[in-house]
Amino acid sequence: MRIAVPREIRAGERRVALVPESVRKLVTAGIAVSVERGAGERAFFTDAQFAEAGATLEEDATALYAGADLVVKVQAPALNQTLGTHETELMRDGAMLLGTLVPARHPDVVAMLAARNITTFAVNLIPRITRAQSMDTLSSMANIAGYKAVLLAANHLPRFFPMLMTAAGTVFPAKVFVIGAGVAGLQAIATARRLGAAVEATDTRPAVKEQVESIGAKFVGAVAEEGQDASGYARELSADFYRKQAELIAERCAASDVVITTALIGGVTAPRLITAAMVEAMKPGSVIVDLAAEAGGNCELTVPGQTVVAHGVTICGPENPPAEVPWHGSTLYSRNLTAFVLAFWKDEAFKLDLEDEIIRGCLVTHAGEIRAGKAAPKP
Ligand code: NAI
Repeated sequence: MRIAVPREIRAGERRVALVPESVRKLVTAGIAVSVERGAGERAFFTDAQFAEAGATLEEDATALYAGADLVVKVQAPALNQTLGTHETELMRDGAMLLGTLVPARHPDVVAMLAARNITTFAVNLIPRITRAQSMDTLSSMANIAGYKAVLLAANHLPRFFPMLMTAAGTVFPAKVFVIGAGVAGLQAIATARRLGAAVEATDTRPAVKEQVESIGAKFVGAVAEEGQDASGYARELSADFYRKQAELIAERCAASDVVITTALIGGVTAPRLITAAMVEAMKPGSVIVDLAAEAGGNCELTVPGQTVVAHGVTICGPENPPAEVPWHGSTLYSRNLTAFVLAFWKDEAFKLDLEDEIIRGCLVTHAGEIRAGKAAPKP
């Protein structure tokens, strides 16, 4: 089997799907790996490191794709402007694709993959069961997003984060409020605490309160017993719950210097939790980092992909924070992908077990059919 690692083509994407450390592991297991020249350079992995790890370097993307049994990617396939060809069209009929793909956001790509007879595994759809923990790119990337959100906020905030006792007097710590304490939110809390901020957080799932408190933040607001579905994701709640929550959010936003929002329902939909009026009531110079920007945003005034200032409040809507920490973003993603490949690598072949819970969860297209969502808990 030959795995191909193309250079990512989406604007701003600095990660690469496999790093040299993983290439070495795969090559040792008996899998050939080809890497497009320069694929890792924006994450600071050189061609020489890939070659040393046992990869074959490929000058030409067309040849790279044509020779691959399995293409590994960070972003969903897209039109390669330089070649004038869609990445899907570059793959050979019947090949496999492993990468991040939200079918609801890319129905056209899914249709193209099915038409090309590609077997597509969306790594983001792998069920979050114990056996698949090492393959969980959602957690790896959410961790990075939570960390980076705090650094972004600290950069924009016209104040210190930590408490300081100086000869010029005492500086009080920044007040940080985190809305949504899943993987990204918990990492945001931990990072803000390390920088010395006083941190509060809220979430709707009951299990979260203890987790928030265990890392040194204060939990505020109410949780709902019915706030979590069977797979652990937040559920849509009643209008009455959201009305009460809105009062709490308005009050805590007005009292905070930094607000970091990560809230998603079912792992995909961003609830609107911060209105324009709530932003207007915040202190001038405050910062909101909306990590749900790509899903539409938790704040009414978020502009996805941009940083805007409204009513004196800086609102950041980063769409792809893991790409801003490209070395670790690539390394963790690569380890997750490698764990997936090696889990199904048996007797010198990739064993496509259609009955396996992991494969069933993440299989998007196979044998000319669209299968997305058949057993998948979340995109
Ligand atoms: P997510 O990215 O889907 O959502 C982020 C957070 O927003 C969640 O904590 C959610 O409860 C919260 N939220 C939704 N609506 C809200 C509202 N109105 N106000 C405040 N917060 C709101 O969540 P993530 O990080 O993907 O985690 C989801 C679940 O998956 C958790 O139960 C987590 O423990 C579980 N998980 C399991 C793993 C495993 O290996 N078994 C690994 C990682 C996560």
